[in-house]
Formats: sequence, structure tokens, C-alpha cells
Amino acid sequence: FQISSQVVSASCPSNIALIKYWGKYDNQIPANPSISYTLSHCRTNTVIEFFAGEDFSVQTFLAGNDEQKFAEKIEKYFKNIEQYLPWILKGKYIIKTENTFPHSSGIASSASGFGAIAKCLMNLDNFFTGVTDEDFKTKKESFLARLGSGSACRSLYEGLVVWGKTDEVAESSDLYAIQYPNVDIHPIFKNFNDWVLLIHEGQKSVSSTVGHGLMNTNPYAERRFQEAHENFAKLKTILLTGDMEGFIKLVEHEALTLHAMMMMSDPAFILMKTGTLEVINKIWDFRRITGLPLFFTLDAGANVHLLFPNDIDNDRIKDFIKTELIPLTQKGGVVKDVMRF
Ligand code: PMV
Repeated sequence: FQISSQVVSASCPSNIALIKYWGKYDNQIPANPSISYTLSHCRTNTVIEFFAGEDFSVQTFLAGNDEQKFAEKIEKYFKNIEQYLPWILKGKYIIKTENTFPHSSGIASSASGFGAIAKCLMNLDNFFTGVTDEDFKTKKESFLARLGSGSACRSLYEGLVVWGKTDEVAESSDLYAIQYPNVDIHPIFKNFNDWVLLIHEGQKSVSSTVGHGLMNTNPYAERRFQEAHENFAKLKTILLTGDMEGFIKLVEHEALTLHAMMMMSDPAFILMKTGTLEVINKIWDFRRITGLPLFFTLDAGANVHLLFPNDIDNDRIKDFIKTELIPLTQKGGVVKDVMRF
């Protein structure tokens, strides 16, 4: 080795899917294409210190705390990606990582976390290989992040991001994500709020790994995968024309379908809580009465992502969230983020 030690750092945001990835094949190949918004403020910041040598070891610190379990997960991940980074097991790592958003808030820290690690690894790789092609580097970061956590591969780009092969998006791939073409997006979708209501901050009862696995025996799975493809075709027109009504309908349907799949798994499981349903009903009432574009999506958890455009007069929406929705959260918890590109 030419280098004996090196420090690299990276910051990566989380993302929230509009068309959901749920179900996969071997080695993190998605069963259907997905598209997400990359967040702005909810990020993971990671510093990796690498000491070249024959012994491989990983020590991780999460917000300053030594995290043995996390270290084991990373060790396994590094072994898994050795074929793509041949130097990776030849040294010792100290990985310090922190999230800018609350732990177990239901905002995907695995997406931002693996995104940040993949970026750090490609920075290290640069020292070994000298490869500087930016486009290739981002694609490989996305590819490596995918092998850590599928949805993480979408966090490497800003704006709307597609992962999974679909005829609707040129050059889309199952192996890494790509940016959805900006020219095909109406301006109303380029400045959007995502306020996450923290309904339940505890540990999830079923992990997403187990959830994906249960799609293998779900009798509705094939229809669902097909529907995700159909929804891509619909979304393409919606994004181009600025059809807000169509967008709301599609995004909420996707969120409810994700949770319907969980309920139709064997064994069945439910990640929504009473508060989740209360919030959904209140949003629907609000929309029926005011006609204003406030809607929701859900991740694999109880928390509700409130979506509404920024480029409109949205005081009434914000006031409604404050007076009617935030009181339904566990501790008055809300994380405010925005997608701007
Ligand atoms: O990246 P994973 O394996 O944790 O899967 C998460 C999948 C969802 O967040 C539920 C949906 C998505 O597309 O992000």
C-alpha cells in the first residue's frame, strides 16, 4: 500500500419513497421499480479513519457511543462487497457516525447511513485507484449503498430518484439508482415539504428485511409488483403535467398498499398505530373541506410523512398541522424537512 492511514468523511441525506420498494430477490435486486424524494436536512454525517494493515477490524461510534452491533453489521457488509473493492478487508476502521434527526424516528437512517458509508468508501477507493470519473463514482456509490440497504441507493442523488428497471425511465437499473430527468418534472414538484409526525418512536416490531422476505409467500405479491410498474407510467404523466390531484391519489395509494401488503403477509403484521389512522382520517377530512393539497405517505413504520407543496400559500396547512395533527403525536414530535431542487 502507498498509504498507511487515511481519514475520509461524507454526509448523505435520507429519502422517502413515493412508489415503494417492497420485495426483493437475491443480493438486493428489487422486485419492482421505486422512486423517491431525497430529503435535505435529515442526514447522516460519517467520518472513517482507515489504518492499512493485514488485520481487518471495525469499530463504530454512533453519536459518540461505541456500538458493537453496528460494527458487526458493517463488518459483514464490508466482507460482502470485497469483490467490488478488493482492498477493503486490508486494514482497521474507526467509523464515527451521527444523524441530524432523532433516532428511531421512522426516518430511514439506514438509507442515509449506508449512503454516507458508500461515499466514504469511494473516497478511500480514490486513493487506491485514482479513478476520478464523477458519474462512475456516484453510480458505484449507489451500487455499494444498495448492497447495504436497498433504499439507500436512492440517497446518492438529489431530487426525484429512480431505482429498479422500468421501461418508463431510460437507463434505469436494478443495480443502482439514477436521477429522474429534471426536464420532465413540473416546477410544483420541485419544492416540496416533508414534515414527519412522530407517532411512535419505539423499535419496529418487524424489520424491513423480514418484511421484504414475507413478499415471497404473499399471494398478492405479483399483482403488486405489476401495479408498481403501472404506477410508474401514471406518475410520469403526473410529474410532467403538474397534476396535483393525480399525484396525491397515487402517493397515498402506494403508502396504503405497502401497509396492506404487510397485513396480507403470513404471518400478518401491522406497523401502523392508532395515531397513524387518526392522522390519515384528519388529513382526508381537511382535504375534503378545504381542497388544499396536504397528503401523506408512510414508510415501514407508524410515523406519517406529511407532504405539501412549498410554492403555494400554505399557512392554512401549517396551521392545521400545528393545531390538529401535532397534538396526536407521542411527544409533540415533528421533523420538518424540504425537498428543493
Ligand atoms: O432499504 P430497506 O431494505 O430498509 O427497505 C425499505 C423499504 C421502504 O422504506 C419501506 C420503501 C422504500 O422504497 O423506501
